[in-house]
Amino acid sequence: MIVVTGATGNVGGPLVRELAAGGEQVVAVSRTHAELPAGVRHVAADLADADALRSVAGGADAVFLMVPGMGLAPHDLLDAVKSAGVRRVVLMTSLGVRTRPGSASHGGYWRAFEDALTGSGLAGTILRPGGFASNAYQWAESVRSSRTVSAPFGDVALPVVDPADIAAVAAAVLRGDGHAGRTYELTGPAPVSPRAQAAALGAAIGEPVRFVELSRAEARAAMLRYMPEPVADTTLDVLGEPTDAERAVSPDVATVLGRAPAAFADWAARNAAAFR
Ligand SMILES: NC(=O)c1ccc[n+]([C@@H]2O[C@H](COP(=O)([O-])OP(=O)(O)OC[C@H]3O[C@@H](n4cnc5c(N)ncnc54)[C@H](OP(=O)(O)O)[C@@H]3O)[C@@H](O)[C@H]2O)c1
Repeated sequence: MIVVTGATGNVGGPLVRELAAGGEQVVAVSRTHAELPAGVRHVAADLADADALRSVAGGADAVFLMVPGMGLAPHDLLDAVKSAGVRRVVLMTSLGVRTRPGSASHGGYWRAFEDALTGSGLAGTILRPGGFASNAYQWAESVRSSRTVSAPFGDVALPVVDPADIAAVAAAVLRGDGHAGRTYELTGPAPVSPRAQAAALGAAIGEPVRFVELSRAEARAAMLRYMPEPVADTTLDVLGEPTDAERAVSPDVATVLGRAPAAFADWAARNAAAFR
């Protein structure tokens, strides 16, 4: 039995579907219910409650651990999984652990979970994704209503990763051998700028999408409506002045899956309905 946390999210959703389609017995964990494939059991649990996680994970062979938000205690979470008798853990953190070690929101918080996993003695594998292609959902409403994408740093390109590829790597690691102790950095196949993402969304819906460049200050003001200041500032640093490591394409998706990662245009085509 495999337990998937964050089971209704961008990564957890396709992961649950892929494992279920492969014949695995899957337990999907989130706080609220959502539509799941036939045969998948849903358990409502808050990961802030380590006892609830221990109870859900009892009897599981493997757990996919997604750490939602900030404020969870790394050792409580890993102790809960370990004391439940689980043997294999796949932990999703962030590329920021390596590229932004000085930032609590992008590096330090996730590093603490990686350290807790490494110190736990569990057979653990760490997935560190870069920015998700699905962050483009933030433009869905403006594309639907005015065929417009507004974003800062229109020509700064980053190799955003398709969450379905993160899920495919997670499924391979949860089901296969030889991944314990490994850390995989997950990116897309090529850097793609916000302007190019707008064009790809236009191609996906079959109508032109206009790109409007925001200043850093305009973007920051918008972000502060839904994220704390330090998170907004570091996110803007990543988007506007990425390090070489943040621009680099990682070979790890292809190494694990034996195929290239999906391009942003593929993600846009598969998710076009949200932008029509
Ligand atoms: N977006 C990026 O560019 C990016 C880059 C690198 C790393 N990451 C990391 O990726 C993760 C987000 O993954 P995602 O996009 O797949 O998630 P998502 O789409 O935001 O979905 C979050 C999932 O976790 C569940 N959840 C949220 N809070 C929970 C809680 N307290 N207890 C139990 N379940 C909870 C949600 O369901 P309920 O709300 O019903 O509980 C949902 O199933 C974060 O850890 C983030 O730091 C993201």
